[in-house]
Amino acid sequence: MTDQMRPTIDIIGREEINDLEAIMSVINTDTDERLHSVHSVYDTVFTWDYEKGQRPKLDKLYEKAKKAQWNGQTDLPWETEVDQEKVVAANAVANGGFHEGIDISGTSIASWGDKEWLQFGVESQNWTLSQFMHGEQGALVCTAKIVESVPWIDAKYYAATQVVDEARHVEVFSKYLDEKLSGHYPINAHLRLLLDEIIADKRWDMTYLGMQIMVEGLALAAFGFMHQMTTEPLLKQLLRYVMSDESRHVAFGVLSLQEYYTELSAAEIRERQEFAFEAAIRMRDRFLQQEVWDRMGANPKEIVPLLMQVPERQVFQTLLFSKIVPNCKKLGLLDAADGWLRTKFTEMGAIAFEDWADTGEEYETMQVTGSEAVA
Ligand SMILES: [Fe+2]
Ligand SMILES: [Fe+2]
Repeated sequence: MTDQMRPTIDIIGREEINDLEAIMSVINTDTDERLHSVHSVYDTVFTWDYEKGQRPKLDKLYEKAKKAQWNGQTDLPWETEVDQEKVVAANAVANGGFHEGIDISGTSIASWGDKEWLQFGVESQNWTLSQFMHGEQGALVCTAKIVESVPWIDAKYYAATQVVDEARHVEVFSKYLDEKLSGHYPINAHLRLLLDEIIADKRWDMTYLGMQIMVEGLALAAFGFMHQMTTEPLLKQLLRYVMSDESRHVAFGVLSLQEYYTELSAAEIRERQEFAFEAAIRMRDRFLQQEVWDRMGANPKEIVPLLMQVPERQVFQTLLFSKIVPNCKKLGLLDAADGWLRTKFTEMGAIAFEDWADTGEEYETMQVTGSEAVA
């Protein structure tokens, strides 16, 4: 490690990445908040160089995106009846039960029966979809900012299509929550911290790194996981459509930063490594679902440490990084500064994915075809 790297506590606010006490002390105390403002001072950049296709890969992505638009109101089978409790129970059966093998004897949830676990599953789904929705709004806002701040015409064109994609994603998750599920959750405090930091940074490439590489890289993995696990056909199709868009978004990040990072100094790359690490930690922290335990009347500080020891849980947590780590490697972020980020991802148990396929080209095979669209 080079001595210029900031210490962990300066980057994520705690010394130990697994300090559960510190993680769980970050909570959203503003749950009645209606509007949330983040101040940002940055340059809006005009370019007078309108020559289309100077960056052929971005141009190709833009042409693809124009043809891949879908309508969230009419292209999904909203008439599908969803009995949330039934779905939650069926998902639990299909995926090995609620308890995930936790030994809960002697805890405040030791007396929970089927009813409580079912309710927990319902709340957990409400929470998960709510956080997806909030994250999608983060993507909407960040990408609009990229339209303004990126200096390349091909990137402005492409980002404009992504803005429409993200509006549609917020719309479909919100509609699904309202019409098919049973309640919203406010934004998770770890997720809000991250979105605030991304949007407050004035450097245009940091918006890409925070959103397209980190948040959307994780979303692509999480949506894929849920798409595979869910037994509910409407949600399955919704996720499939959203994933086809997300794969383009992550490719947009990889292709743009790959070019830009070649111009950066070692010190500048180091700042990007630190930002990637911070984002990874915030996203991992949010998956503890503290608010769900709270709402169920259980003490998260008692339950979460048990949950963390379950092997399936650990596998899930690390799988979330299966897109991020190869993309960071492709961008040169893993190995710069004597492999500082590699060490961090190793501590987080996520380094095993480094040689998985990066997401620069994956979108080509992720598009929804005509036959799938009507399936
Ligand atoms: Fe999205
Ligand atoms: Fe996206």
